[in-house]
Amino acid sequence: MPTHTAASSSISLFDQRVLTDPYPTYAALRTTGPAVHLEEHGVWAVPGYAEVQTVLKDPGTFSSTGGVALTEQANTGFLADSVVTLDGEEHTRLRKILARRIGPRAISTLREELSARARHLVAEHTKGGSFDAVALSRQMVCDTIGRLVGLAETDHTTLLAGTFDVFDPDNDRLRQALPEAAAMRAALERAISRDAVDPGSLASTAYAAADRGRLTEAEAVRLVCDYAAASVDTTVLGLAETIARLAQDPVQWTRLRRDPDRAEAAFHEALRLDAPIQGRGRIVTRTTDLGGVRIEAGEQLWLLYGSTGRDERKWTRADSYDLARPFVERHLALGGGTHQCPGVSLALMQARCLLRALAHRCTHLELAGAPVRAVHNTVRGYSSVPVAVETSPYAGDATAPGVTVRRPR
Ligand code: HEM
Repeated sequence: MPTHTAASSSISLFDQRVLTDPYPTYAALRTTGPAVHLEEHGVWAVPGYAEVQTVLKDPGTFSSTGGVALTEQANTGFLADSVVTLDGEEHTRLRKILARRIGPRAISTLREELSARARHLVAEHTKGGSFDAVALSRQMVCDTIGRLVGLAETDHTTLLAGTFDVFDPDNDRLRQALPEAAAMRAALERAISRDAVDPGSLASTAYAAADRGRLTEAEAVRLVCDYAAASVDTTVLGLAETIARLAQDPVQWTRLRRDPDRAEAAFHEALRLDAPIQGRGRIVTRTTDLGGVRIEAGEQLWLLYGSTGRDERKWTRADSYDLARPFVERHLALGGGTHQCPGVSLALMQARCLLRALAHRCTHLELAGAPVRAVHNTVRGYSSVPVAVETSPYAGDATAPGVTVRRPR
């Protein structure tokens, strides 16, 4: 039995003002109800942690098929038959293909390689006394993903084209994003042709699975493209957000320097506070009750991952950044349930290596200017984060990270 009167709102979720700082709007939606019908977008916003978790745990009632993006055009066109939009057995079949390759055990074997890359990049980027956290994160992620996927080095920047605007409502950005995303996929498809990929890469694993008849060759290519496209912007935005937080918070930065094992917590906290993927859709397959609100079959939900991280009913001092927060990894910025992000271990390993390298090399970190937000409808993050540093001359090896060399700013 529904216990809440269905609430509706005229809030325009994708207004420039809201996108710049969505958190007051999210707070208002959480106060309004467990599910709030957004008149302008024709979807039900789900802003609370508990309700989003309920949805994620029940893909039978809340389906990804035909409903992850805000337009029919994207759901039935560009995104159709991708791992993001499939449900049930077809989804499980595709998820299994690369699961072992990017699970925790496989990713732990990359630790040395990623640590070395991070130390090298941090040394390069910080040597002038300042750096852009977005540029550093991009290079780390493109090199890591490019190698793992099996791309030639010259193709690594193909990954930067970004495809997340295809989840947008019907607007200019979507119209621009669809052909760009298609072009990126075409470039990736060319780059991962059978004879071009490295043995041992994700692409070679997918082709081997196709040879054993577990999926078609076209599905193998599509799968690798899906993983490659999903892995870059998200991780770059999350890493840059973490560095921006640390550069503005000397207490937390000192905490990380004293205990670099908190690197993953530093990353999780940044994801909780500013989820790179702010919202995703689901279609309701049978009339249901969500948090006491009746929702009819066929309606679309918009899960506000960005709001769940600020939900005061779940988090104490929800707006503060705290490396000692208990169970921070339970945030929903990486999704949950059957569609939970399969790249969790890889994203965390990159964060661990990059943040540890920074903590080791830099004795002091602060903003060198105002970070610039890239305004998108469904993803959140910076396009530039200027940071000033003081570095240790001993950094690069594992000794004496405490000595400071002041560099001119
Ligand atoms: C900080 C970095 C990342 C964030 C914040 C993130 C976030 C997410 C979220 C929220 C979802 C669930 C979407 C939904 O509910 O429909 C998801 C799915 C996905 N992610 Fe990630 N992701 C990250 C990194 C990665 C990486 C490194 C990879 C690749 C190795 C990856 C590959 C995918 C794929 C393929 C899916 C679709 C899974 C499915 O629908 O079954 N992501 N990600």
